[in-house]
Amino acid sequence: MSTYVLGNRRVNRLGYGAMQLAGPGVFGPPENPQAAMAVLRAAVANGVNHIDTSDFYGPHHTNQIIRKALHPYPDDLVIVTKIGARRGTDGAWLPALSAQELTQAVHDNLRNLGLDVLEVVNLRAMFSVHGPAEGSLEAPLSVLADLQRKGLVRHIGLSNVTPAQVAQGRRICAIVCVQNQYNLAHRMDDALLDDLARNNIAYTPFFPLGGFNPLQSSALSDVARQLDATPMQIALAWLLRRSPNVLLIPGTSSVVHLRENLAVGKLELPADAVAALERIGHEAC
Ligand SMILES: NC(=O)c1ccc[n+]([C@@H]2O[C@H](COP(=O)([O-])OP(=O)(O)OC[C@H]3O[C@@H](n4cnc5c(N)ncnc54)[C@H](OP(=O)(O)O)[C@@H]3O)[C@@H](O)[C@H]2O)c1
Repeated sequence: MSTYVLGNRRVNRLGYGAMQLAGPGVFGPPENPQAAMAVLRAAVANGVNHIDTSDFYGPHHTNQIIRKALHPYPDDLVIVTKIGARRGTDGAWLPALSAQELTQAVHDNLRNLGLDVLEVVNLRAMFSVHGPAEGSLEAPLSVLADLQRKGLVRHIGLSNVTPAQVAQGRRICAIVCVQNQYNLAHRMDDALLDDLARNNIAYTPFFPLGGFNPLQSSALSDVARQLDATPMQIALAWLLRRSPNVLLIPGTSSVVHLRENLAVGKLELPADAVAALERIGHEAC
C-alpha cells in the first residue's frame, strides 16, 4: 500500500472515514452498533492506520464507537478529528468557533476517544456549511495553536477552506493537512491540491465518492466495466493516482464496501481510462 507522511506519522494512503457510522443524518447512535464496530475492526485488520472522525458525528457516538471497537489503539493508528461545528437539537450543523467551544471540543474528543493527546485536529471553517467561503481564521486557529502548545493537540489541519485561508493558516501555525470536498466530478481544488503537494502537506478529500449524492456518470461506469471493477473503486483509484499527497478516507457502514474500497490499491488505471475520467471533471466544471 502506498504511504504518505501525515504530521510526522507515515500512514497508508487508503484510510477510512467514520462519519457513516453515526445514525441517519449523522445524528444519533448507529442503528446497529455491533455492525459499526465490525467495520472499524475490519478496517484496522486490513491495514487502515488513518481514521477520520469528529465528535460532532452523532454527536459523540462515532468517537465512542471508535473507542469501544479499537481501544487500546494499535501503535501505528492515526486518528484525525475535527472541531469548529456543533449540532443543533434538530441535527443542524452550526458554527462552534469561540475559544470556549473549541477548547470544550478538544476535551470532548480526548474523553470520547480515550486519548491523552489528539494526533491531528482539523479546524472546520463554517463561514458556509456547504463549502469554502472567505473569512478570517485567525482567532479560532490561534486558540487551536494554543491548545497545541499546551500539549493537547500534536498537529493542526484545516477543513472546508479557501486557498487564502490555507495561506493565512500557514502564517499562524504549521498546517499538516487540508480536508475539502473533492472528487472526480468536483475539482475546484485542483490548483490548491497541487500547491499543497509541493509543500508536503496532505490533501484529504471528503465526499471522495460523492458523499450524500454518490457519483454517477456513464463514463465512470464504462471504465469500471472495462476494468472489471465497480464505479466507486474507479473513483477512488483515480484519486489515488491524482497526487501522492492525496489521502483517502471513503466512508462506509458496510464491511463489503470497505473491502472493495481497500482493494483499490491494486487497481491500475490505463492511460485511456484516465483520459475518459479526466473529461468527467472538465465537463462538470
Ligand atoms: N470535513 C468535512 O466537512 C467533512 C464532510 C463530510 C465528510 N467528511 C469525512 O469524509 C469521509 C468521507 O465522506 P463521506 O463518508 O461523507 O462520503 P463518501 O466517502 O464520498 O461516500 C460515502 C457513501 O458511499 C457509500 N459507499 C462507500 N463505499 C462504497 C462502495 N464500495 N460501493 C458503493 N457505495 C459505497 C456509503 O454507503 P455504505 O455505508 O452503504 O457503504 C456512503 O453512502 C467521512 O466519513 C468523514 O470522515 C468530512
